[in-house]
Amino acid sequence: MENRIEGKWILITGASSGIGEACARKCAAGGAHLALTARREERLLDLKKELERGRDIRIHCRRLDVRDREDVFRYVEELKGEGIVPDVLVNNAGLASGLGKLQEGSFDDWDRMIDTNVKGLLNVSRAVLPLMVARNRGHVVNVGSIAGFQVYPGGNVYNASKYAVRALSEGMNVDLLGTEIRVSAVSPGAVRTEFSDVRFHGDREKADRVYEGFVPLSGEDVAECILFILNAPPHVNIQNLVVTPTAQRNVYSVHRESGKGTS
Ligand SMILES: NC(=O)c1ccc[n+]([C@@H]2O[C@H](COP(=O)([O-])OP(=O)(O)OC[C@H]3O[C@@H](n4cnc5c(N)ncnc54)[C@H](OP(=O)(O)O)[C@@H]3O)[C@@H](O)[C@H]2O)c1
Repeated sequence: MENRIEGKWILITGASSGIGEACARKCAAGGAHLALTARREERLLDLKKELERGRDIRIHCRRLDVRDREDVFRYVEELKGEGIVPDVLVNNAGLASGLGKLQEGSFDDWDRMIDTNVKGLLNVSRAVLPLMVARNRGHVVNVGSIAGFQVYPGGNVYNASKYAVRALSEGMNVDLLGTEIRVSAVSPGAVRTEFSDVRFHGDREKADRVYEGFVPLSGEDVAECILFILNAPPHVNIQNLVVTPTAQRNVYSVHRESGKGTS
């Protein structure tokens, strides 16, 4: 496929690990300039150092909590001040926090998921989209999940947040009708990242059990899908790309075999 990202500015939220970090690596390899954000800025700075080596690309890093609406708008103004207008926005920052029955749910977990996955995505989109509309060009990629198509026990609020990402991706698409701006959602199944460590609040054993007995996707696998979407010709708008491990066909159907897996 033709490389259409070279020289473009790609803003990635949640670039400090997992899918976002893998996406940054692939975009840098494709010659794109990067605006990388996450709360763990030191990780971004290490990544910048590594990715800029031997490449003629610019990488702008900034600590950003997508929940902080004012700071999100300040950040986008800062980018503008440096002459940076994102050609691509990858709304990737997100998390699951906890896995338990709704009737026993933690308010902190609920707030964290809704404020990050839904309102955070909205904050960044609201700040960046007007710049894209003004230039009549751009591409937004929202990282959803198969959890946005099917609920599972204990998934309740995380599921709801990813159903919302799907609805917002469709909403953006219809609201941007008549512009050249494309909106895509990528909806992965199980990906081995820090996701489950975060979901189980650092309980590594529980996190490892999620991926026991099968080969999950890697962050790189999902990043590859995002690159495919970004490199599609301008008249091609991939609205949703669902990708799962071969051993997983939906949120319930996972084929596990002893001796397989990454843990
Ligand atoms: N792994 C899976 O199985 C899976 C499946 C489907 C969809 N997804 C989705 O994929 C996306 C990326 O997750 P991942 O699997 O790559 O997990 P990950 O390794 O935990 O990465 C999550 C990223 O989001 C950032 N983040 C979290 N809260 C943030 C906040 N408030 N502000 C800014 N950045 C924040 C984290 O950075 P900091 O902590 O440094 O801020 C980190 O870079 C998420 O939207 C997730 O829901 C994951």
